[in-house]
Amino acid sequence: MNIDLIANFSYIVAALLFIVGLKMLGSPATARRGNWLSSVGMLVAVTAGLFNKGIITYDWIIVGMIVGAIIGATAARLVAMTSMPEMVALFNGFGGIASLLVGWAALFGVTTDFTVVTICLAMLIGGLTFTGSLVAFAKLSELINSKALVFPGQRFFNGLLLIAIIAIAVLFYMEPAVDSKFLYALIGLSLLLGIMAVIPIGGADMPVVISLLNSYSGIAACAAGFAINNNILIVAGSLVGASGIILTKIMCKAMNRSLANVLFSGFGAVKTGKAIEGVVKPINVEDAYYILEAATNVSFVPGYGMAVAQAQHVVKELGKILEANGCEVSYAIHPVAGRMPGHMNVLLAEADVPYEQLLEMDEINPRIETVDVAIVIGANDVVNPSARTDEDSPIYGMPIIDVDKARTVFVLKRSMASGFAGVPNPLFFGENTRMLFGDAKESISGVIAEFS
Ligand code: TAP
Repeated sequence: MNIDLIANFSYIVAALLFIVGLKMLGSPATARRGNWLSSVGMLVAVTAGLFNKGIITYDWIIVGMIVGAIIGATAARLVAMTSMPEMVALFNGFGGIASLLVGWAALFGVTTDFTVVTICLAMLIGGLTFTGSLVAFAKLSELINSKALVFPGQRFFNGLLLIAIIAIAVLFYMEPAVDSKFLYALIGLSLLLGIMAVIPIGGADMPVVISLLNSYSGIAACAAGFAINNNILIVAGSLVGASGIILTKIMCKAMNRSLANVLFSGFGAVKTGKAIEGVVKPINVEDAYYILEAATNVSFVPGYGMAVAQAQHVVKELGKILEANGCEVSYAIHPVAGRMPGHMNVLLAEADVPYEQLLEMDEINPRIETVDVAIVIGANDVVNPSARTDEDSPIYGMPIIDVDKARTVFVLKRSMASGFAGVPNPLFFGENTRMLFGDAKESISGVIAEFS
């Protein structure tokens, strides 16, 4: 059979596997299988790509595959759950630089006017994705200051940079060559644009930026696919581009902010909200036990601290004990709790918490007043009532889980420190709030010990 026919048929199978896999990622119950299906799709796509008649020698391809597989497998095994966003940022960056290089390599083949345009796009978007992702990685891992870095005239400078890039791309289009000075200028300025675009964005917004850069990496791959006339790269790139932008929109909506506000407002650089005064009421595990023992409705509200403490297994264990004690148990999930989309769902799924006990923000809030005890486990910004009440707060307008309206609130954290957005939280001073200070895993284990 014709090898092109087999390759194209395999590409269709791969594309279908990507689409079905993506769809399955939408629910915690099917997400693992969806991930697996998409990986199989990628294997089919890569294998079919290797039969491309244009490949002269496989030596470097094999070296690349071995080196890449070792790095990927090691990183996936070693990376801590809390560092997943950093890893995703790096992967996006690698995707961007790969598209840039593919675009560049395409110049060595036959080029039409259309391919030169797609090459320019692959290099521009791939380049800015690469450096933008590196800055996002550095901010998240605190290699550089994670605060928004803003300076006077910044937007004007970025605007000029964009105009310069477009002008140079036009000059390159008129005289495309592998070693053109316009080519080097285009690459250099695209790399600079990535840095300039991400430095004014604060650490708290980095997950949104990563999702957006993920979308860019897909668009760059799509452009590279057009440049080398590879159908599956076009399809896979479009899927990544579209799903990344949808996810970005979902995250912005969950924070009640526009994408423009995330990208250009320098969030968190100036405003920190009103200072809060009041009395903090600490509680110990023994007293927490007495209150929980009498509770008939308990809702766990996990946040980033649960991931840090790796407390998901003990949380589930306490949930089971409470259920056995005749209590109704739920887990209230805020869409941006943690540091990446679905962070809490992944952790709770790892601990085998039944999916039907997971309640989204819109489901728990209308009935939060019937909850006897809301146990906040390492969550802070996503339960901060100043998002409802303090117009000066940078997070004003962000939908939150209204734990302050529950009958009693336990907040499990180690100190009075702020959350990722760096804003004070009046919840800690609430009349019905009790602070259970300490590592979340140790505190929950202490309560479990009291029960037994
Ligand atoms: P945060 O507001 O970051 O608060 C986490 C809290 O966990 C901290 O206050 C910390 O207090 C506590 N903590 C840390 N380690 C702990 C441990 N071992 N035991 C107990 N507590 C511990 O978390 P959140 O409420 O989940 O909010 C997420 C933030 O990320 C929001 O600002 C959100 O907008 C932002 N964000 C997230 C996303 C996604 S997709 N998830 C997207 C965009 C933005 P102590 O240091 O006192 O312990």
